[in-house]
Amino acid sequence: MAREKVILAYSGGLDTSVAVKWINETYDMDVITFTCDLGQGRDMTGIKEKAIKTGAVHAIVEDARNMFVDNFVWPSLMAGTMYEGKYPLATALGRPLIAWRMVEAAKEHGAAAVAHGCTGKGNDQVRFDVSVQTLAPNLKVIAPVREWKWTRTEELEYARKHGIEVDATKQSIYSVDQNLWGRSVEAGVLEDPWVAPPPDAYQWTVDPLTAPDEPLEIVIEFDQGRPTHLDGEPLDAVPLIERLNELGGAHGVGRIDHVENRLVGIKSREIYEAPSAAILHCAHKELEFLTLSRQAQRFNTYVAQTCADIIYDGLWFSAFHKSLMAYVSETQRFVSGNVRVQLFKGKVTVTGMKSDYSLYSHELATYEEGDQFPHDTAVGFIKIHGLGQQTQARQQLLKSEPSVRPARIMPSSDD
Ligand code: ARG
Repeated sequence: MAREKVILAYSGGLDTSVAVKWINETYDMDVITFTCDLGQGRDMTGIKEKAIKTGAVHAIVEDARNMFVDNFVWPSLMAGTMYEGKYPLATALGRPLIAWRMVEAAKEHGAAAVAHGCTGKGNDQVRFDVSVQTLAPNLKVIAPVREWKWTRTEELEYARKHGIEVDATKQSIYSVDQNLWGRSVEAGVLEDPWVAPPPDAYQWTVDPLTAPDEPLEIVIEFDQGRPTHLDGEPLDAVPLIERLNELGGAHGVGRIDHVENRLVGIKSREIYEAPSAAILHCAHKELEFLTLSRQAQRFNTYVAQTCADIIYDGLWFSAFHKSLMAYVSETQRFVSGNVRVQLFKGKVTVTGMKSDYSLYSHELATYEEGDQFPHDTAVGFIKIHGLGQQTQARQQLLKSEPSVRPARIMPSSDD
């Protein structure tokens, strides 16, 4: 009888290479590796060759960059999601996509299981497992690193015994995950929150202190919440993000140092580099200030935080998330226009914006000639606006004991 098949999420690194052999031996299954190109800048041909050399029966590489941006990054940008106000969720957004594509591959190849190289104390295992369980409840999930519980030395020993090549020069002192939307770096000396991130933790951005003395100004055009043009030139989503990563990186933009609350109950320190995300979130938010109602904006801050938690917590495929995203997408109908952004020594500043749907009315706002604001109407409006508070003061606060009155309502001579 043919052996059962498993689709293994494969990065080409040590853990997932050892996992190929380990699954062969431990589960007696054929391993098909699956590598998603999310713009992590790795040599996909090399990864494919290494997978086969390590013992995979088949190696799949899928260019999912457009899928990633259209279905995960842009919706997240439109929702304004920043986990804990800091992290633009690059890694967290990639996981449900990889899980979904692996489930599709499992169906296509008749696999009985999927596998990933996540450890037992991170968020990523949750995101993978929950996504797979949601999309394909019949698929088994194997998590070799979580299951073998080896030390680094034991793992290297296993690799050596099985002839898995370990390129010492490529062994990073940090744990890194990266895609188009950002780079996540943890472990090593970063585990001490007192230690400033060493320069080598950063790869995409220059030190803001040594960034050019001249600011760079760019204009980003948005259409219904999605960026479409850079300096007047139409650009597809992937090259646009790549370009902003370069420009932002050259000006030290997008460095984030975050002691974050993991879903699994611990705090961990992670460094992020996300120039494009920093620029686009900033520009998009300002454009919303110009084009959304006050009510929508207030409500959206709550939605943004809720969506960020949903994404971080691995609940991308929940019905609640889908409902929220439908709301977000509707709010973006008029979030179109141009935003001028300045990049300077690590900072992103919006210096101007315009939109055909701007709710900013010069005739209503101006203090100069041409003012059309109904000044006289303001008097009646104020009267009604303050009516409740006025009544309460007259009936309660102004009547109460002097000892209570001052603190509640106004400074008093007997204080
Ligand atoms: N802390 C981030 C998250 O939970 C990134 C996790 C992966 N980081 C890494 N350096 N491998 O989304």
